[in-house]
Amino acid sequence: MTYRFLSALALIAALATPALADEPGPGGSKPPVAKTGEEVYRTYCQACHMADAKGATGAGTFPALAKNERLGTTAYAAYIVANGKGGMPWFKDMLSKDQAQALLGYLRTHYGNNYKEPVTAADVEAFGQKPTR
Ligand code: HEC
Repeated sequence: MTYRFLSALALIAALATPALADEPGPGGSKPPVAKTGEEVYRTYCQACHMADAKGATGAGTFPALAKNERLGTTAYAAYIVANGKGGMPWFKDMLSKDQAQALLGYLRTHYGNNYKEPVTAADVEAFGQKPTR
């Protein structure tokens, strides 16, 4: 009686274990959320503007963000990221305010850009960037 009960338990355990193994583990297969400006750039921008931010021409024209004087005007860059332009998609529905702020701060101080003045939450908010998720 006891033996049968135990072997039944063992059977259940043996059957249940592989089923559990099929479940996605902690974190699953969801990619981590991009937080730093660099992570946001890699995730959302580099496909078009290239890893070195120098842009490309070919199937389309993707302007360089490297050494780009227009990034000196925070409002201009924040406006384009939020609303898109021409062949560029808009990101106000895709990036949180924090992500847009980190991204713009990163671009303004990397790839040969040297605009030290920090990008504020208000800068990105002005163009409809979503609140922090
Ligand atoms: C699907 C391709 C694509 C993606 C993704 C993309 N862009 Fe663009 N981007 C473009 C194109 C094309 C233009 C030129 C638009 C025009 O002038 O008509 C552009 C223009 C810009 C400009 C204006 C540059 C200038 O000199 O006027 C900025 C700033 C910019 N993108 C930043 C970003 C950032 C930051 C990201 C990531 C959040 C991003 N882009 C993602 C295609 C893209």
